[in-house]
Amino acid sequence: MADSVKIDFQAHGAVEGGDLIVFVDENLKLAPAVAKQLGPKAVDLIAKAAEVESFKGKVKSAMTIAAPSALSADRLIVIGVGGEKDRQNPDWVQLGGLVAGRASAKIATAVLDLPGIEVTPDGIADMALGVRLRRYSFDRYKTKKDENKTDGTGSFVFTVPDPAAAKKVHKARDGVATGVIMARDLVNEPPNVLGPQEFAARAEALSKLGVEVEIFDEKAMQKLGMRALLGVGQGSTRGSRVAIMRWNGGKAGAQPIAFIGKGVVFDSGGISIKPGGGMEDMKGDMAGAACVVGLMHALASRKAKANVVGAIGLVENMPDGNAQRPGDIVTTLSGQTIEIINTDAEGRLVLADVLWYVQDRFKPKFMIDLATLTGAILVALAQEYAGLFANNDELAQRITAAGQATGERVWRMPLGPEFDKMIESKFADMKNSAGRHGGSSTAAALLQKFVNDVPWAHLDIAGTAMGSPQTEVNKGWSSGWGVRLLDRLVRDHYES
Ligand code: BES
Ligand code: MN
Ligand code: ZN
Repeated sequence: MADSVKIDFQAHGAVEGGDLIVFVDENLKLAPAVAKQLGPKAVDLIAKAAEVESFKGKVKSAMTIAAPSALSADRLIVIGVGGEKDRQNPDWVQLGGLVAGRASAKIATAVLDLPGIEVTPDGIADMALGVRLRRYSFDRYKTKKDENKTDGTGSFVFTVPDPAAAKKVHKARDGVATGVIMARDLVNEPPNVLGPQEFAARAEALSKLGVEVEIFDEKAMQKLGMRALLGVGQGSTRGSRVAIMRWNGGKAGAQPIAFIGKGVVFDSGGISIKPGGGMEDMKGDMAGAACVVGLMHALASRKAKANVVGAIGLVENMPDGNAQRPGDIVTTLSGQTIEIINTDAEGRLVLADVLWYVQDRFKPKFMIDLATLTGAILVALAQEYAGLFANNDELAQRITAAGQATGERVWRMPLGPEFDKMIESKFADMKNSAGRHGGSSTAAALLQKFVNDVPWAHLDIAGTAMGSPQTEVNKGWSSGWGVRLLDRLVRDHYES
């Protein structure tokens, strides 16, 4: 949205006016070359201002002072990088967010020579990513713009040891930032604007990057036999869609990896209608699908050396004379039957058919699905972790590690025969709801019935995708959760 944040890389020494940003450790020490660049007067000024403001150079802290006239800058922004332990493993993305949060809307120069920290092209690119995520805002529907807002704008110069190397890594990483922003935009869009068809069109736009996109309409899905998915959408006047996206950046014919997303463009609950309070948040019930689209954008724009399938099920869950009822039994694409107990447990019905389809057609190396699947995951993990369910320890461990690396953290939750038993139905092969206890695990247990022996992981992102705690790089409602995590997973393990 209105995203015109500019980031340039130059050799150390250049200052373009505006804000000058420098970094100090917990002893208020600048990197030696920066101290030299600023001169003793400015170094002295920093020490004095720090005393007045009791600024201690702690990690994630900052102070702003008027720049001395000798510097060609208006304001001097001093950012703390903390003690030795903080400096061993700097969080570059959050640091970028802090820089963008402190700098003004005009031009800012950040001197990326940090005391006691090795500044790598990778770290620099992550900082730039943090800058863009921090400056994101969704204001498409505000007719009055705030002129003083820094959101969506800003011009940054990073002075770095090797501008060419930084530019190269940044170019790839910038596609990840755009992918996160795309996912955020999709989740923020109101549900009258973004129906299944409109969402599918956004997926189709990825073809500009060389992604092959197929869209199934209801007729195509009927022919295939995706009756569980179609049942969810049958109360809506807007037709359901499935979008299949393929990025073939790996070896020709090599087994792909697959990402599947829940795309309920609005979840009223259907006949088992939800209470009115907060129902507007259910426009975000397509965050899993939004993440898959954002991820495909990220991978394609950086020309990832992997074959990747993205598949999303797009439906609207509405009450209507033609809507699905509690008591209905649907036959899924797999042939297994599901008794509908609660029409509000719809996400698993959508995913059941898409998981089966992807597994059957693409024979992937692994499948990872993302879904705002259960309120119960918020009860278990608040909005700090996404729930991770997996039938494969290696895949679970790799996702967990990528979560640690990106700050999009996951916590493993149980699957098992106890939960399979809880979804046994009197009339069909299984039922779609088993009540409150273990609600996230019984939902995952249903999904597992549509996965054969392929390594599979399910991420329940109902807590993390929207309304989650604010960070230096997430100041809005939708977080774009998962794009950075999964891009990192692919980068670390699945590129030849
Ligand atoms: N989309 C909701 C889950 C959800 C809740 C997402 C809160 C984001 C925030 C899902 O379709 C749902 O309604 N789940 C029910 C399942 C129940 C009926 C078995 C739930 O969690 O209450
Ligand atoms: Mn629901
Ligand atoms: Zn839902």
